[in-house]
Amino acid sequence: MMLGELADIGRDPVRGGYSRHGFTAAELTLREWFVEAAERAGLQPETDRNGNIWAWWDDRRGPDALVTGSHLDSVPGGGAFDGPLGVTSALAAVRELRAAGFAPARPLAVAVFVEEEGGRFGLPCLGSRLLTGALPAADALRRTDPDGIPLAAAMRAAGLDPERAGAEPELLAGIGAFVELHVEQGTLLAPSGAAVGVATGIVAHGRWRFRVSGQGNHAGTTAMDARRDPMPAAAGAVLAAREIAVEHGSRATVGRLRPTPGGTNVIASAVDFWLDARDDTEHRVRATVDAIAAAAHRLAAAEGCTLDIVEESSSGRVDFPAPLRDELAALLGDAPQVPTGAGHDAGVLAAHVPSGMIFVRNPTGISHAPAEHAEPDDCAAGVRALTAVLRQLAR
Ligand code: HGY
Ligand code: MN
Ligand code: MN
Repeated sequence: MMLGELADIGRDPVRGGYSRHGFTAAELTLREWFVEAAERAGLQPETDRNGNIWAWWDDRRGPDALVTGSHLDSVPGGGAFDGPLGVTSALAAVRELRAAGFAPARPLAVAVFVEEEGGRFGLPCLGSRLLTGALPAADALRRTDPDGIPLAAAMRAAGLDPERAGAEPELLAGIGAFVELHVEQGTLLAPSGAAVGVATGIVAHGRWRFRVSGQGNHAGTTAMDARRDPMPAAAGAVLAAREIAVEHGSRATVGRLRPTPGGTNVIASAVDFWLDARDDTEHRVRATVDAIAAAAHRLAAAEGCTLDIVEESSSGRVDFPAPLRDELAALLGDAPQVPTGAGHDAGVLAAHVPSGMIFVRNPTGISHAPAEHAEPDDCAAGVRALTAVLRQLAR
């Protein structure tokens, strides 16, 4: 299985799993691997102005192209399947079709979208949202990574000209359908006994940066009643986020918290933490985030601190179009149709192009962690499913 070819790229010795973030050395190695593997599969890989790679079946570039693919980047300490399974399965499907002498009646491509996880610059689906114009290039180019490296510098290091970053309306107009295969993130398939399933839609979700600011000081010489310590306020807000999410029936997560300066014997001057909130509709997400923000403001004030909140990204609920969804399910032996709480490039493209997703069963449902797994037989079933879908949609 081609995933094995990636096994040693971007391993994270500290966190475990993989840290393969946009335009880092690991991801650049993955890009090189993809270009070489695509050429081996007889495809013609081209990189667009945002760093997304499109590997075309032949000289045709549209109209009504059928595109499949996913992403190669990961979350910090991520698993081996989220993203790469969709890319390697797409290449394997193309190889099967070529070996069978299949000749697609429409242009066909395998796409790799850049920085889907937002693990380096904090913007999820960076490549696909630049492509569609959902994310203005100016907003993206304002971002720096945790080491202060601007996105423009990272793009230049990858051989791209950041001045050209932005929407690709012609490329987008040439796409007739997009199908993304992805490891399931959850265990909705397991009870049905099905190795593959079809996505019905993606919940609304977003990311907010909370910054609590106080007074940095000495841990040992500052009396407890003379502090403006942002850490207790941040900690209270993290607990409030969970309580409020449970009350609202939403999902809220704080997985990343960063004190400044971050010294053991130092009262922090500021604490940043990032809220990931998700629910069935954008309205419900915002109600939950507003309640969390109100609690955080109260907590900050009680500590003599200030709080400012920045919305970093927000995506509305996506319902994949029923005709394609049902066609996929029918093609896959009446495969179960399941929703997902995870965002995907397919969700971004769905606003412009009929899009759908095929999920490969994940026995534990664990994702965004080293334990993420899919059985080889189920991965093979995924390749067979994608091959059948591409053959049908490009016949
Ligand atoms: O965060 C997500 O939902 C996706 O894995 N990018
Ligand atoms: Mn992911
Ligand atoms: Mn993914």
